[in-house]
Amino acid sequence: MTKQDNAKKLAGEASLTHVENGMTIGLGSGSTVYWMMRKLGEHIKEGLNVKGIASSRQTETWAAEFGVPLTNFHETQHIDVAIDGADEVDEAWNLIKGGGGALVREKVIADAAEKFVVIADESKLVSRLGDFHLPVEILPFGWEVTAERIAHLGGRTVLRKRDGEAFVSDNGNYIVDCDFGIITDAEKLHKQLKLLTGVVETGLFINMADEVIAGYADKAKSLK
Ligand code: 5RP
Repeated sequence: MTKQDNAKKLAGEASLTHVENGMTIGLGSGSTVYWMMRKLGEHIKEGLNVKGIASSRQTETWAAEFGVPLTNFHETQHIDVAIDGADEVDEAWNLIKGGGGALVREKVIADAAEKFVVIADESKLVSRLGDFHLPVEILPFGWEVTAERIAHLGGRTVLRKRDGEAFVSDNGNYIVDCDFGIITDAEKLHKQLKLLTGVVETGLFINMADEVIAGYADKAKSLK
């Protein structure tokens, strides 16, 4: 296992101190979440009684693999704790997310949760957001116009592709990865993007994280 994988594993597993019997857990997406879910499955086999709400089809698959029972927003609108990864975490705990293309459901889940715990290996910790190109989910209809509007805000946009075709999110939308350079006012940029008609959601998670658990090669640490 690489040092980075071990850091993800340690951060993911450390987050389970927030999980208690009877809770509904928001399950994020990505490789750090994978390790959290693997461990969660072990706790469930030992008798822990929790349910999860998955933020992506990939996460649903892992839930089935590790024996994590799932529920959904029809059954409950209350999430005790959401646990998710991030592509960048700045010093104020604002995030860029969406590298895996699940940002909309991840944000709905984080928003519905009483507590939002971010798990990230140390490579994700940055002083300013923006090296990681900002994922923005947009409607396929007229995506060219929306991408142009985003470009007018100063972002160099690239339509995300998979196997040569436009990447389609679990919501049936496209994602553009946007290079705004260093983002000096994340909240303002998020608001400007949200005002564009074809934009569904941005990967900027502003003032949402309640705790950040950083993973290092040999330990995990809750940032204060
Ligand atoms: C997916 C995400 C992930 O949380 C983010 O990409 C981090 O992934 P990983 O844990 O694999 O580094 O936002 O949309």
